[in-house]
Amino acid sequence: MMAQLLWLGLSLLAFVQSSTVKNCHPGCHCEVESFGLFDSFSLTRVDCRGLGPSATMPIPIPLDTAHLDLSSNSMGPLNDTMLAGPGYTTLVSLDLSSNHITKVSPNALSRLRYLETLDLSDNNLESLSPNCFSGLPLAEVDLSHNSFQKFDMNVFTTKVNGDPVSVDLSHNQLVSLSLTSHGGALHIQGLNLSANRLLSVPKLAGLPLRYLNLDGNPVTHIKEGAFTQMKDLVYLSISGLHELQDIEPHSFKGLQSLQVLDLSHNPKLKTLSPAVFSGLDSLQELNLSGSGLASLPNNMLTHLPSIKSITLGRNIQCWRTQKQGQFHRQLGQVQHNDVLNCNVEGVVL
Ligand SMILES: *[C@@H]1O[C@H](CO)[C@@H](O)[C@H](O)[C@H]1NC(C)=O
Ligand SMILES: *[C@@H]1O[C@H](CO)[C@@H](O)[C@H](O)[C@H]1NC(C)=O
Ligand SMILES: *[C@@H]1O[C@H](CO)[C@@H](O)[C@H](O)[C@H]1NC(C)=O
Repeated sequence: MMAQLLWLGLSLLAFVQSSTVKNCHPGCHCEVESFGLFDSFSLTRVDCRGLGPSATMPIPIPLDTAHLDLSSNSMGPLNDTMLAGPGYTTLVSLDLSSNHITKVSPNALSRLRYLETLDLSDNNLESLSPNCFSGLPLAEVDLSHNSFQKFDMNVFTTKVNGDPVSVDLSHNQLVSLSLTSHGGALHIQGLNLSANRLLSVPKLAGLPLRYLNLDGNPVTHIKEGAFTQMKDLVYLSISGLHELQDIEPHSFKGLQSLQVLDLSHNPKLKTLSPAVFSGLDSLQELNLSGSGLASLPNNMLTHLPSIKSITLGRNIQCWRTQKQGQFHRQLGQVQHNDVLNCNVEGVVL
């Protein structure tokens, strides 16, 4: 009786169990993860990293493989047959990083119709054919550490569903991005452009971005209206721009949802007018640590109604506090008197 109860209890608990798999290619490691009531769901995870020069593509993989790691296999140009085999159609994630991939043929990925996560980082890609992601339900694409100098964001218009995708293009040689159709058709939610060669903020108007990273680009000036029509942006990082000298007033106009703005480590940024911060109605965190600013602009708090903290240095942080209860005679109402309290004395605001 007790044993039966125990057995029932264990089966009811959703537990994960791994076992070895038949039909696993000798150089690979295959694992089935079962979970759910009475192991009713299972996922096969196949690791074929670094198989060596004798491996011929496509590597046979078990049917129902969900996750496949093919990284570090010197695959070279990806042709139409290298990912065409039984088991490949069910892939949800595929790691093709570190493979000396110089080209992706237009139909190389076309059978992967459940693919959500694609890692093509650390290859030698300079361009992608316009339809190479056609029909794929991608949610995350890593193209970092490649050799793109230009990138056409329209490659994501042919994605199969309207679910949002995050794209990592960091550590390329990008000087420009193009967007021909209206950004709204693209469903790109996260875009990482850090460590590229962008000389100005690229025009991304209309993209429904929530995350944008422009760190480490040689941008010298940020111009008024640089971020127009990006009303969904929540997190913006503009850090480590060694040439950035100037941010024009109203540069951030339109970023009504922005909560975090990282402007740290911009050593040539010596002054900021208070109007730089106008329109940042939702901003909660501002990071100015390691910037060239000698002092904060006067009255900047009036532009930042939601601000909670401003970081000024490694260990220098200020928080907004409200001195309440001052009776304002002329207006006859209690005014919230906001002040910044810093953990270091002598910060003048
Ligand atoms: C794809 O590349 C592999 C390995 O280089 C080669 O054996 C195969 O014939 C190629 N297939 C096509 C369709 O070009
Ligand atoms: C963007 O790229 C940089 C550099 O590769 C990395 O440090 C950062 O974590 C990335 N951001 C996200 C959200 O992945
Ligand atoms: C501000 O930036 C510095 C340097 O990049 C980082 O160490 C720190 O965690 C950031 N602070 C906040 C509050 O984001």
